[in-house]
Amino acid sequence: RWTPGQIIEDAVARIRAQVGAERVILGLSGGVDSSVAAALIHRAIGDQLTCVFVDNGLLRLNEGDQVMATFAENKGVQVIRVDAEERFLSALAGVADPELKRKVIGNLFVEIFEEEAGKVSDAQWLAQGTIYPDVIESAGGKTGKAHNIKSHHNVGGLPEHMKLKLLEPLRELFKDEVRAIGEELGLPHAMVWRHPFPGPGLGVRILGAVNKEYADILRRADAIYMEELYSSGHYHKISQAFAVFLPVKSVGVMGDGRTYEYVIALRAVETRDFMTAGWYPMPYADLARISNRIINEVKGVNRVVYDISSKPPATIEWE
Ligand code: XMP
Repeated sequence: RWTPGQIIEDAVARIRAQVGAERVILGLSGGVDSSVAAALIHRAIGDQLTCVFVDNGLLRLNEGDQVMATFAENKGVQVIRVDAEERFLSALAGVADPELKRKVIGNLFVEIFEEEAGKVSDAQWLAQGTIYPDVIESAGGKTGKAHNIKSHHNVGGLPEHMKLKLLEPLRELFKDEVRAIGEELGLPHAMVWRHPFPGPGLGVRILGAVNKEYADILRRADAIYMEELYSSGHYHKISQAFAVFLPVKSVGVMGDGRTYEYVIALRAVETRDFMTAGWYPMPYADLARISNRIINEVKGVNRVVYDISSKPPATIEWE
């Protein structure tokens, strides 16, 4: 049986042999796969690797800073951080259809990634965090959301005209092996064990048309939810949890006054393969604490609900 250390050693040797003295670019999302790929390739070829991290304005609270702290500051990885919030939000203005939002976000991501990759003028390789289940999935010719996941997130089929060679060092690994080598490479535990996060980010967790006000409210509610899941020990028992912003207003009371504010829905599911999922039986005491904190601490929210739908027929994401 291979140990994480052996897998790393082997991969490092292979990457060096493949790449030689050439330059590599990688789209870093902050997710497990691209993060482990970045750390592994950096271990192999150091500054020959340049990562591009696109902040689309639809990330979780402080996520961009965390990615920069982990890779650029701690590990000395070259990361180009692109602040593209305004571009994404203006491209999304008035777009309410979920699949159209995915398309807008995915296309703009590719456009920006290409712009930035073009600046690394002598790059010959495009690295991706493709893992073994992705390979199987695309061989099976799945379409729709599942395919979309990889075409967006792993930058599948990216700049064809750039004639980049593909570097996929995780291609033969399963998720648990990827996590194990991530730990061995010294990535933060929280990053390695993070729940999956969709490529379109908060864009599909704000129902309907997206704007900055909604994204800011959702980010703050989601951060409280995650903080509470970590501190209560639920986080690692749950496969995926997140908050959803509902753009409807309901009436509440606060002190002597009447409020008329937005609703936050909380989702938490248990699943093995994400094809079917059950809602997580969160204890009432935890729900009560999370709800109180969100309503007290997040301006613009006066009601919190918990999603008790399983997949199928509901999907895990609300869009
Ligand atoms: P659903 O909502 O289809 O989600 O039950 C199953 C898993 O896929 C993730 N997901 C996405 N990931 N781009 C992604 O990268 C997407 O457009 C997308 N839509 C859903 C979802 O978070 C869950 O883990």
